Amino acid sequence: MTVIEITSLDDPRLVDYAHLTDVALKKSRGAEHGLYIAESLLVLQRAIAAGHRPRSVLALGTSRADAVEAIRGFDVPVFSGPPELLEELTGYLLHRGLIASMERPPLPPPAELLRDARRIVILEDVADPTNVGAIFRSVAAIGADAVLVTPRCSDPFYRRAIRVSMGTVLQVPWTRTGEWSSTRALLAEHGFHVAALALSPEAVDLRAFAAGAPERVALVLGAEGYGLTAEAIAAADTVVSIPMAHGIDSLNVAATAAVAMWALAGSPG
Ligand SMILES: C[S@@+](CC[C@H](N)C(=O)[O-])C[C@H]1O[C@@H](n2cnc3c(N)ncnc32)[C@H](O)[C@@H]1O
Repeated sequence: MTVIEITSLDDPRLVDYAHLTDVALKKSRGAEHGLYIAESLLVLQRAIAAGHRPRSVLALGTSRADAVEAIRGFDVPVFSGPPELLEELTGYLLHRGLIASMERPPLPPPAELLRDARRIVILEDVADPTNVGAIFRSVAAIGADAVLVTPRCSDPFYRRAIRVSMGTVLQVPWTRTGEWSSTRALLAEHGFHVAALALSPEAVDLRAFAAGAPERVALVLGAEGYGLTAEAIAAADTVVSIPMAHGIDSLNVAATAAVAMWALAGSPG
């Protein structure tokens, strides 16, 4: 590991930080599965604890020693320099002291995550990285075992999702599923009861569902605007709803996830 004081932005290794969008990082040809950005020391530490590999770190002088300590054992550079230069490079102030360019790990096959899980969360097409991050934080804090995200769901490794999750997207096991037909078959094979969270007059009240919850439950949550698709509802063993008061039509999806996981955490199943 080498500390490199930068005085210009010419070093080609700085390209990971040069105004790159999440999508460009994901497609970066410099790493087999693409890159993501870890912001803050806590997130970098969580990423390394999860076995992810850093490519480099960009640190303000005040965070240089922390950066060096965090990536001890990796032969990668720590770039440091004046705040104005780092801001010119990244397009924003490094108010968390450091950011790191990380190699994305390959995602595991869904069956690997289902094998020993009791409670899982499935995010169908959730579009907002803030909601994805908040759900992962609740999963880690309340205690579901894994998250599956559908092909059109926002990427948990996007910078905002990682930040809002407090780095828990790097610690909670997750992967992407295929289409509903194959996911439904896989869940059945592993003994999961599929509980779709949706607002429907025929739905079972969450409290009643939690009181007699099956041993293995997959909670399915839908997109912010239009909710769950017809395929997701068709794949469900039970449609479960949190009754709303005062004429409010629905909860935010992340709030729904937290309430549902909390209800199941105290259930006998
Ligand atoms: C903002 S809501 C979408 C609202 C959408 N208009 C609908 O009718 O489903 C996003 C997701 O949160 C979950 N959700 C929100 N409020 C809920 C409630 N009261 N009961 C069950 N699920 C809820 C559902 O999974 C829904 O797909």
